[in-house]
Order: sequence, then structure tokens, then C-alpha cells
Amino acid sequence: MIRVAAVGDVHFAADVAGSLRPQLALVHEEADVLLLAGDLTRLGRPEEAEVLAQELADVQVPIIAVLGNHDLHANRDKEIVDVLAAGGVRVLEGEAVRVDVDGYSLGVAGVKGFGVGFPGASASDFGEPEMKAFVATARHAADRLRAALEALDTDRTVALTHYSPVEGTLQGERLEIWPFLGSYLLAEAIDAAGADLAVHGHAHRGTEKGMTPGGVHVRNVAQAVIRSAYRVYCLTDRDGTTC
Ligand SMILES: [Fe+2]
Ligand SMILES: [Fe+2]
Repeated sequence: MIRVAAVGDVHFAADVAGSLRPQLALVHEEADVLLLAGDLTRLGRPEEAEVLAQELADVQVPIIAVLGNHDLHANRDKEIVDVLAAGGVRVLEGEAVRVDVDGYSLGVAGVKGFGVGFPGASASDFGEPEMKAFVATARHAADRLRAALEALDTDRTVALTHYSPVEGTLQGERLEIWPFLGSYLLAEAIDAAGADLAVHGHAHRGTEKGMTPGGVHVRNVAQAVIRSAYRVYCLTDRDGTTC
């Protein structure tokens, strides 16, 4: 059994320093790995990432993250990645990482992802160059996620994104903004490559549990949704249920 702790959208900054540290320090008692599903900072400032790195200093399990849209706001995402890397956090963007746990191997493929929407209500590759660029960015992210998942040869795999791959975990969000909250292309990538669990954030008013059309369990771990320091999922089989 591999226990995966996950949280997204912690939106860290100096004024919340210390708010998660006590719980995070004990994550090893409940989980084998900690996933961070983007929006790690509030305004994309490296100093905010420094605060988060301090918050994570007591964590005794591998920490794997993707960035979110907030982390790109100041165009300093490379600095943020460096700050977090120095703190032991592996930040993925179109890559995969392997973690070995008691004879099992866990592969995590990560990409921030992007919007574009869902079938019947998605942006299309037509018209203005800006719209084509929007769709191309979403497609590129999905392609990278698929390649990263396909490169894994582990007992269990998790797809880690910031944007949602499905509509199910957006329930509760205003329908009008769904094209900015996720992309069906991510679900297509996950279903094509296969995964045991998909974890995302970004949808603060969404719902925790959903599923891809191909049957992969999806969990929205935005902190505002799970209302805790993290949620733990057990990968004993393909159920992705909470421990
Ligand atoms: Fe967020
Ligand atoms: Fe976000």
C-alpha cells in the first residue's frame, strides 16, 4: 500500500507562516509522499516560496509539486522552483519522478496544465491567434503529461496537475468559468497513458471527488475544498479511496 498525502492552493505568504507546519511535520505518520498541487504562493514571489520552504522543513517524506497559475503571476517561476528545490521539493513540469515505498514503486507525473474547457463548452483551435495559442498551450501541457505518464514503469502512478482534468470536481464553481479551471485534454492524456489516481487543485469552490471518462479517480485537493492541511489517499488498488 502506498499512502499519498496531497494538498493544493496553500497560497503561501508571510502572513500565514506557521499555519501548516505542525500538521505537515507529522505527515510521515499517515503518508509516504506529499504532493502539492500548485498555487503554492499567493502572488508568485520567490520570498513567498521561501516562507513555504520553511513551512515544509520538518516534512520527512518526499515532496513533489507542480506550480499553479498564481506561481507564474510575477514571471519568477524559475526562481520559485529553485527556492523550493533548495528546500527539498521536486517541482515537476512535464516530468515524472519515482518514489520507492516498502517494495512498491510510485511514479508521479506532473504538469501545471491549463484551461480550455470541456466537451461542448471548450475553446477551439479557430480564429484569432490568441485563441489558437490558448488551445495550443493546453494541448502542449496535456501532451507533456501523457509523455511523462507513459515514461513511468512503476507499480502505481499518479497524475499531478494544478488545473482540473474533469468537470466532476468543478461542481460548485460557476459554470461560466469552467473553461478557465480545467481541460478535457488532461483527462484524455490520463486515460490514454493510464494512472491510478489524478490529483489537482485550482478549483477552490469545487468538489473533492470526480472521475475521468476512462475511470481514473480524480481528487481536487484545493485546501479550500478539503479544509485540512492535506488529504491522504491509499493506492492499494484502483480505488483511490481515503485511508
Ligand atoms: Fe488557487
Ligand atoms: Fe489556481
